Amino acid sequence: MEKLTMEKIVNISKQYGFIFQGSEIYDGLANTWDYGPLGSRLKNAVKDAWRKRFIQENDNSFEIDAAILMNPRVWEASGHISNFSDPLIDCKECKTRHRADHLIEGFTSDVVPDKMTDEEMVKYIKDNNIPCPKCGKSNYTDIREFNLMFETNRGVIKDDKSVVYLRPETAQGEFVNFLNVQRTMRAKIPFGIGQIGKAFRNEITPGNFTFRTIEFEQMEHQLFCKEGTDSNFYAEYKEKAKNFLKDLGIKEENIRFHDHDKLSHYAKEACDIEYNFPFGFSELWGTHNRTNYDLSKHMEYSGKSLEYLDPETNEKYIPYVVESSVGCDRLVLATLCEAYDEETLEDGTTREVMHLLPYLAPYKVAILPLIKKNHADKAKEVYKELSKNFMCTYDESGNIGKRYRREDVIGTPWCITIDDETINNNTVTIRDRDTMKQITLNLDEVKDYVLDKINF
Ligand code: GAP
Repeated sequence: MEKLTMEKIVNISKQYGFIFQGSEIYDGLANTWDYGPLGSRLKNAVKDAWRKRFIQENDNSFEIDAAILMNPRVWEASGHISNFSDPLIDCKECKTRHRADHLIEGFTSDVVPDKMTDEEMVKYIKDNNIPCPKCGKSNYTDIREFNLMFETNRGVIKDDKSVVYLRPETAQGEFVNFLNVQRTMRAKIPFGIGQIGKAFRNEITPGNFTFRTIEFEQMEHQLFCKEGTDSNFYAEYKEKAKNFLKDLGIKEENIRFHDHDKLSHYAKEACDIEYNFPFGFSELWGTHNRTNYDLSKHMEYSGKSLEYLDPETNEKYIPYVVESSVGCDRLVLATLCEAYDEETLEDGTTREVMHLLPYLAPYKVAILPLIKKNHADKAKEVYKELSKNFMCTYDESGNIGKRYRREDVIGTPWCITIDDETINNNTVTIRDRDTMKQITLNLDEVKDYVLDKINF
């Protein structure tokens, strides 16, 4: 296949019901996307796999579902109100808006804008006459810090007191519930709290389909541990993330660790796993050693103790946190990019195929009556029976070859053909999506044959 483009993935997603533009009939709302019937199935499978690996398979991990709207003091404590912003600068000539740090990064690698103050960035841009990417002139305003949190108002009176924020990360719900979970679950450190949920960021430069959007889902897990054990857990969770990606069918050559030299104020160690998207290697998954920064800040701002009392040693301490954080939408996008292929067959034709793991495939089997008028009744019977166990689809239109191709491109691992043999001998042929080979099975064996192969 020629190099995969984002345009291709966007078109495939739309054409086959994975992902649609948000509010499409109103010409959309920039950078919002709706998951269609197939996309929702894929996304749910990704979430279930994460839940299994990060919650279920651990003896000391607990899932929560915290509210999106939190007390605004949470965001003061976390630093999001004062720090979660982008430095914006306007071109006075063509009125376009840019991120000052991106202008500098695009101009030189000699300085690191993140280490500069806003005044230093403005001075650097002016001294070097950095041109506007749109009009080429160099005449800018001063920098304004633009907070990425979406604000909304509660109650009927629009005053300052009623401002609440749509959470920009799910993590804070895990931190503020640390003691609730620890007490109710009688959890002993080390233990984890994870959740899957929506997050919102008023991103200035969203784009690349679902890679960077203003509304997205995160799957985050915080491991609460004792200082001194944190670095080992950090290394463990980096590997855990990588292995999870491999188990979802992502090839090792398409992922790489990017250890951060430049750390956020709260982090002792931080690493991204980058995936080789069609637009290049970009952040998919972050692992962070957040020390006891978050719990300490919440203690300070709430006035409540979040110390842990070790029942064995009677020692009291504020736990360290190792965070594992991945965007569900980005991960779904990675699985689509990884799975899509265009193969040239022996007869010179091209086959579009989505090599999704059977576990991830939206439909596990397609049930195809060979000749509609002879085999449809039996095929519908089979559909009704098998769909009690897993997602099936039924297709009776067009020749069998075309129907196979329709299933290949949406990733259905097996096509079951119902023909005279089924009616006379109770056997079916099962065609494998990847090898295109067919085998014959007794109808009664089909359920277990499929169930055996669709576990994560
Ligand atoms: N609690 C830590 C945290 O939120 P982050 O690096 O800002 O860290 C974690 O976000 C993950 O969330 C990213 O690695 C990415 O997969 C996803 N993510 C962040 N911003 C996103 C956006 N605007 N659109 C889609 N996914 C996003």
